[in-house]
This record gives sequence, C-alpha cells and structure tokens, in this order.
Amino acid sequence: MERIVCILIGYIFGLFQTGYLYGRMNHVDIRKMGSGNAGSTNALRTLGVKAGVCTFLGDSFKCIFAVLAVRLIFGGNYGEILPLLSIYAGLGAVLGHNFPFYLGFKGGKGIAAMAGLLAALTNLWITLIALVVFVTIVAVTKYVSVGSIAVVLIFFAGVVFRGQTGSYGMESVYLYEMYAVAGFLALLAIWKHRANIQRLMNGTENKISFGKKK
Ligand code: G3P
Repeated sequence: MERIVCILIGYIFGLFQTGYLYGRMNHVDIRKMGSGNAGSTNALRTLGVKAGVCTFLGDSFKCIFAVLAVRLIFGGNYGEILPLLSIYAGLGAVLGHNFPFYLGFKGGKGIAAMAGLLAALTNLWITLIALVVFVTIVAVTKYVSVGSIAVVLIFFAGVVFRGQTGSYGMESVYLYEMYAVAGFLALLAIWKHRANIQRLMNGTENKISFGKKK
C-alpha cells in the first residue's frame, strides 16, 4: 500500500510540466513545436537556452522534491525501506511527467526527472560521472538523445552499484525490488526514445542547436 501512495505522491509532483508551462507563458504549446516533446531538449530547441535550462531544473527538482516528500512522510515508520520507497516516488514523478492526465497523457521522456532521481538515489560521484558522460557525448555527437540514453544506463548501473556495495542498507528482497523498478524506469526511457533511435538509425535525428525556431 505504501508503495502505491509513494507512486501517487510522485505522480502529483511529476504533473508540474515545466517546459509546457514555460511555453504556455509564451503563448505556445511546446508539444506542437520541434520534436513535439515536452522536455528540456525541445524547450531549448524551440524557445531558447533560458527555457531549456529552466525546464531541466524544474523537471529534475520536481523528482527530487517527490523523493524528499516521501522521505519526510515515511522516514519514521518505514526507515528501513526508505531507498525503495524513494525510487517508487521517482517512478511516480517520471510517470506524471511522461503521462500527465490533464494533457491527454502526452508529456515528456522523463530524462531530466531521472537525472534528479539519479542525484537523489546515488551519490555526488556517480552524478558527476553521468553529467560528464552526457556533456561529452552531446558535445561529440550533437545528439542529446544518445546522451540521454547513456544517462539512463548510468542511472540503472548506479542504483545497482550502490545497492551491491551496501549503501542502501536494505534486505536483498527489497534491493532486488529496487533494481527491478530502476530497470523498468530505464526501459521506459529507452522506449520513449524509440522514435529518436529510429531517426538515429536513419541518420535523420535532430542535432542540438541553441536558436529559437518554431
Ligand atoms: O531528453 C529528451 C531527449 O533525449 C530527446 O529529446 O526533443 O530530441 O526528442 P527530443
């Protein structure tokens, strides 16, 4: 039951669609521009650097806030499975971001939210590794989607690494449940990138640019 409550709490936080709201403030629907995705890459692509940065920060921090809220609510009685409940909060936030009911379930791909979850569930070093790998891949290839998929894989590896090195202090059964949720999140993110992967294979994927275009 507490898992479902954590997913619901996360989902509510995830509904805060930074890119969509930023677009609305500028009288446009970001989902009808560029790639049609309500995420920071498309905000950057269509509305400029400020929009991209604000969207990334808003979308990653909503996930961190969802985790903090769950830790605050469940920290007392469920302290021994708090990392597990935290990832359920992150799952909810990603679902709220990707499938917001009030936008016809058409949101983003959940990468900024997962970056927030990565920071909340791993440590500074793993977060920095993810950041460096992302920036390097995007700088070299100019494909944000490739960098995003790399971050997703680091997220999964980081959670398993932390679990296997005893950082979460949970029994194995809960650890494996946490890995399963992390794996599901990684697969969901890759599935959300299926059109990007198709375009990468066709050589037609959008390269990153910093201008505003409609
Ligand atoms: O995080 C989303 C990014 O990987 C791809 O975005 O707009 O190019 O589909 P977009």
